Amino acid sequence: MHIASLLVPAIALASLASGQYVVPAADGSDGWADALGKAKALVAQMTQEEKLNITQQNNDFPRVGEIDRLGYTGLFYADGAEGIRGASYSSAFPQALNGAATWDRNLLYRRAVAIGQEARAKGINVQFGPGVNLMRTPNAGRGFEYNGADPYLAGQAGAQHVQGVQSQGVMSTVRHYIGNDQETGRRWTSSNMGDRTAHELYLWPFQDAVKAGVASTMCSYNGLNGTYSCADPMSLGKWLHEELKFQGWVLSDFGAITFGEEIDAANAGVDTTRVADPPSAPFPFGPGSALSAAVANNSVSQDRLDDMVHRIVSAWYKLGQDQDYPAYNTSVNSLSKEHNELIREIGAKSIVLLKNSNSVDLLGAPFGGGAGAGPGGFGPDSDQGNFLGGSGSSYVIPPYQVTLLDALNQQAREQNTQVFAYLDNFNHTVQASQASTGNLAWATCLVDVRQTCGEGYDRANLTASWGGDQTILSVASQCANTVVIYSACGPFNTTTWGDHPNVTAILNAGGLGQEAGNSLVDVLYGVVNPSARLPYTLAQDISDYPALPDLTIETLNTSFVDIDYNEGLFIDYRWFDKNDIAPAFEFGFAGLSYTTYKYSNLSVQPSTATLQKTVAASSDEVFDCLAIITVDITNSGQIGGSEIPQLYIGSPADGAPIKVLRGFDTVGLDAGAKKTVEFQLTRRDLSFWDTYNEGWTLPEGDHQVYIGASSRDIRETGKMKFTLA
Ligand code: BGC
Repeated sequence: MHIASLLVPAIALASLASGQYVVPAADGSDGWADALGKAKALVAQMTQEEKLNITQQNNDFPRVGEIDRLGYTGLFYADGAEGIRGASYSSAFPQALNGAATWDRNLLYRRAVAIGQEARAKGINVQFGPGVNLMRTPNAGRGFEYNGADPYLAGQAGAQHVQGVQSQGVMSTVRHYIGNDQETGRRWTSSNMGDRTAHELYLWPFQDAVKAGVASTMCSYNGLNGTYSCADPMSLGKWLHEELKFQGWVLSDFGAITFGEEIDAANAGVDTTRVADPPSAPFPFGPGSALSAAVANNSVSQDRLDDMVHRIVSAWYKLGQDQDYPAYNTSVNSLSKEHNELIREIGAKSIVLLKNSNSVDLLGAPFGGGAGAGPGGFGPDSDQGNFLGGSGSSYVIPPYQVTLLDALNQQAREQNTQVFAYLDNFNHTVQASQASTGNLAWATCLVDVRQTCGEGYDRANLTASWGGDQTILSVASQCANTVVIYSACGPFNTTTWGDHPNVTAILNAGGLGQEAGNSLVDVLYGVVNPSARLPYTLAQDISDYPALPDLTIETLNTSFVDIDYNEGLFIDYRWFDKNDIAPAFEFGFAGLSYTTYKYSNLSVQPSTATLQKTVAASSDEVFDCLAIITVDITNSGQIGGSEIPQLYIGSPADGAPIKVLRGFDTVGLDAGAKKTVEFQLTRRDLSFWDTYNEGWTLPEGDHQVYIGASSRDIRETGKMKFTLA
């Protein structure tokens, strides 16, 4: 292993210098004591071969790790944070990024409960997700599987996901740990980041998942500061196990433990890996593997092997999987009407209405139709049907698809309106002439475009696939009321067409899942008052973002290609703020609700105690509440809706961003109603990561408090400071 010199703090290296690092064993903290005690008692009765068996996973029969005589069932897993991957009769939920766009903890929780219910019904013990990598680059191929560009938002969403799935007794797996923020070269790039950047950005949401009790963590393919993530004593050992006191088990991404790294992986904290992947490769773990030889010659200790098994078996107890867990059968029908309705609701509440020139619900009146929406039944990379979400290992085969056209037809039937659908994406001249037939005073032309994406590649640009940007312009050239429905995996470019006077509305739909058409119609007809927020910035130009993947490194490399996170703390809105770059639509953008909200009466109440300046990363005080902020929100418009006030803090710490998100809430308000919203700020929220002291340190001076409807629509400001010991 080589360690990038520039970024790793010297203090941590000292503990590694004396020899092979060995990760601390689980100690039962944070509510795991009972489960760990039971696991130890069971594992004490296992043979060495049985223990080794538990360190590998697959979904075949007989089940790897199962020990009949002890009643231990082993674990089955499933991919897909959008639902259960590759199984029939599974619901296709809106993509994770849409969940984040709701900025609604309750919806995020209910989405996860439903996924957990479906996993449990099929006897799946471990459901992969949430993904909490950050959108460091706007075109990252798997951005749709994650929760946007801000660590606080990603952490909140990740925690809700963990709690929701695990409420059903199903283990969730937070991933991809850590620095797997692009797809290009994911197996041979090293994400090089400083200690402060790691703690304040990339590790932050993983900490929230651990705090929420996540049962497992998946380490990623890439390197971190020159060492493979799955063999890295710094990120796995020091950060995850020592600082966050993670009690669950670590699984390597499939094939991520490279030949020769098995011992380092086990000692750094990996507990289990999938059986040989690719199948021709030598088994990293399990009986007869490199791990079993290493335990025999003591380069991995027996204690470490026991700890690996304790962690896995204690999670099985902790989630209650020792009691009446359903038999594994992925064909069990886990669909339900409730889930369909929930998918529709999350979908509608995740659509960001970026533009609405007419300031009313879009299709409240009869209308004519436009271009683009095709029939259903197509895969993720199709220009037909719905865009449900990106492709790759998270893709769920939908049980059905309510396309936009289906839903529009249904509305037309109920409301005596007329739909004219033109289904072709390529001939812009014909599109324009078709659109001219919709250019009537009472008509609206809908243009449905999309941008495909998926695991394994980053997008080359932020324009729509299949010439969609040109489609928009063709239709807008002929139709005075053109509504754009844009499905995407993340940021996209609106600059060539967004300001066109005939583009009267833009709906950022993301990937809506199986109920896409219904969710869209709910917003188009004003049944749902749009309340979603952008979980990332839409720039005017792709070059405005601080970091883009170098797509030319796609060829396999045998040594690490460095990806230096030179922008440090300044990703997304933090970068735009710092460099005074005007975005097309800013992070947190409120979309255009059909009503208006007034903010008033900000109150800032910092703790008056004399506070210790620095606390260790592993201290419980990291989550102590140090300040309470309240503000009144009034619905000043004519109809009910939900507002999502956002709290940003401008820290006085050296090198801190102008402001960072530290709170949000969903506030449902009838027309004219008012509510007081309260935010609690923890020590971590108000501290900077202090590399020298290896802890969270409160800075001296004024903390600026900003409350607003987006990162650039600040409505109330205040400040506070603390008395430090
Ligand atoms: C992905 C993981 C996934 C695994 C198994 C890998 O390529 O990175 O997220 O769980 O495949 O499908």
